Amino acid sequence: MSDKNDIQRMRELEEVVEYHSRKYYVDNAPEISDFEFDALLRELQELEAQHPDEANPNSPTKRVGSDITNSFKSVEHRSPMLSLANTYSSEELGEWIDRITREIGEVEFVAELKFDGTAISLTYEDGALLRAVTRGDGRRGDDVTDNVRTITSIPLRLSGEGYPQHFEIRGEIYMPYASFDRLNAEREAAGEPLLANPRNAAAGTLKQQSSQVVARRGLDCTLYHIAGDSLPSDTHYGNLMAARGWGFPVSNHIKVCHSRKEIEEFIAYWDTERKSLPYATDGIVIKVNSYTHQRSLGTTAKAPRWAVAYKFQAERALTRLLSVDFQVGRTGAITPVANLDPVQLAGTVVKRASIHNAQQIAAIDIRLGDMVYVEKGGEIIPKITEVEFSERPDDSKSFEYITHCPECGTELIRVEGEAKHYCPNSAGCKPQIIGRIAHFVSRKAMDIEGLGGETIELLWENGMLHDIADIYSLDPIQLASLPRLGEKSAANIIEGIRRSKDVAFERVLFALGIRFVGETTAKYLAGHFLSLDAIAEATTEELAEAEEVGAKIAVAITEYFSDEHNRNIIERLRSAGLRFEADERVLQSEVLKGKNVVISGKFSGRSRDDMKALVEAHGGKCLAAVSANVDFIIAGENMGPAKLQKAEKLGITILNEEQFMTLIADVNTEHNTATTAAKSTEHETAATPIQGRLF
Ligand code: IVH
Repeated sequence: MSDKNDIQRMRELEEVVEYHSRKYYVDNAPEISDFEFDALLRELQELEAQHPDEANPNSPTKRVGSDITNSFKSVEHRSPMLSLANTYSSEELGEWIDRITREIGEVEFVAELKFDGTAISLTYEDGALLRAVTRGDGRRGDDVTDNVRTITSIPLRLSGEGYPQHFEIRGEIYMPYASFDRLNAEREAAGEPLLANPRNAAAGTLKQQSSQVVARRGLDCTLYHIAGDSLPSDTHYGNLMAARGWGFPVSNHIKVCHSRKEIEEFIAYWDTERKSLPYATDGIVIKVNSYTHQRSLGTTAKAPRWAVAYKFQAERALTRLLSVDFQVGRTGAITPVANLDPVQLAGTVVKRASIHNAQQIAAIDIRLGDMVYVEKGGEIIPKITEVEFSERPDDSKSFEYITHCPECGTELIRVEGEAKHYCPNSAGCKPQIIGRIAHFVSRKAMDIEGLGGETIELLWENGMLHDIADIYSLDPIQLASLPRLGEKSAANIIEGIRRSKDVAFERVLFALGIRFVGETTAKYLAGHFLSLDAIAEATTEELAEAEEVGAKIAVAITEYFSDEHNRNIIERLRSAGLRFEADERVLQSEVLKGKNVVISGKFSGRSRDDMKALVEAHGGKCLAAVSANVDFIIAGENMGPAKLQKAEKLGITILNEEQFMTLIADVNTEHNTATTAAKSTEHETAATPIQGRLF
């Protein structure tokens, strides 16, 4: 591959990996399996190693992921919570062992299960639980102590003796299969969306506002790493055994190994036996036992060098493909769903599986009657990954993809560059209409209780609901007259509708169901443009310049607002009194009012999010890329050479962290833009010279 292609691929991978990383860490709704994600991440890492000058300082390879939400106090970890390097084969594992042996000589290893949950750090003082903090972005996490206290296996007070006065112990909070199945059964009965897997269920539960809810969900915990002074042993194993004596839940499935062979035996044993465990595991973690050796091996920015994860291949099952249904989503996207001969897979019976699109059907040449392999990734519905050609019936016929919508008969279209087929009849195709309304009323959008999928369908069938705006003219008497509803439910729905008028603008924006505008993008858009009118009036270029938006989303937003049907709905929602503007921000100053700022590189004292918040608190806006519209750049360490070159070419001012802080600090005391500009210029001569003009 030429350098040019490599670099193009790097940019593409940055976007894709960042997207899936957000889906996993922030939204708790992964769309691809860990295996697929790691493959993408590795490809990017390898390209970055080959072209270090082109590596983006903000590449997703540089971060450990983030799960911070606003509702919990953010706490800094005493030492960063690292991730683990992954290996997928015996060869890779062998290379890791060889590296350690070369560096240290013969060492003892400890092999243990890799629990598939969410990481937690517990701090104990004088034998009592002081604090529980999530991993967050590795540097800071959320204080979830109240929720963690409800997990019965976590000791609130330690027993035994010999524990340090103050220490931190880390581990994994997970949801056993039994709790997960019970929770999903309850959600299904209540018409709520199902949770994709026990890992997401555990992470989501830990962030619940009410610790009572957490207590009911049946979480469990295992602890696998202990840090602090005055520990009883200099080995990992010794300290874990001591921790068990103090009352901590430490797994029984741990083994001290002295050779590669012993480690491989442990892996082979658990690759099969894990299927009978009551909780999910996704690999084996191998650690160097001695703390002295661990210290001399040290860590990289992301992971310790003294530990590695061996990831299991996803479980798969072989079964027959009976038929294929085509489902129409709320955006009109067609998803083929396979009906299978029921088969047991990773603890559940699988009857349906997704085959993502026509391309995939052609790529793996699926035919009805074929024996196919199904795998569970991060999604609720497993997917078909491969055909067992040796078992193909002689009379099998190639599979024809549909050309018309199975619901409304409209001819399907395929947008260039996209894999999926779409039904373009958005205003007249039933599942699209119902899906859009269901999305609009869902918990993370307008949160209108009582309006589940069935009720929406009922209202639609009775001609009372054609689009989302109709919700605001629903009449309680008419509602109560519908079968299965009654006065009380009708009153609840009307009350829910009334309350939804207070829902914040960013959620209204998400509720509209604009393609690709998920919860996070809606938040960024609302923060950047501050009103629906500003978004509707922005050009595609202006939209694409906003942080976290990008060209594809910008085009979708422009398309949405250029559609007359959508504009009509917007006007009706406006008359209903929905919030179309962001809350007034209390600004610390207006010195950056009207200024577009790009934040680039890494900062010593603050995270990029902190820097962004500062820019916005002083009235400025953050843009994603350097362009002629940018007023100045705040550059940290490792600003990308391409960005720097572009900034120089355009004559854009570049401030370092200190200069920027001086600028806003001066404003805080002087409240005078003119003075500030003068002061910042004075400052320039002392520090790195500022290029171009700021104001
Ligand atoms: S050791 C510095 N041991 O896997 C030590 N991690 O993919 C870091 N995990 O972030 C972790 N089981 O949340 C360790 N036995 C185990 C584990 C384990 C699960 C998780 C942990 C980590 C993630 C990395």
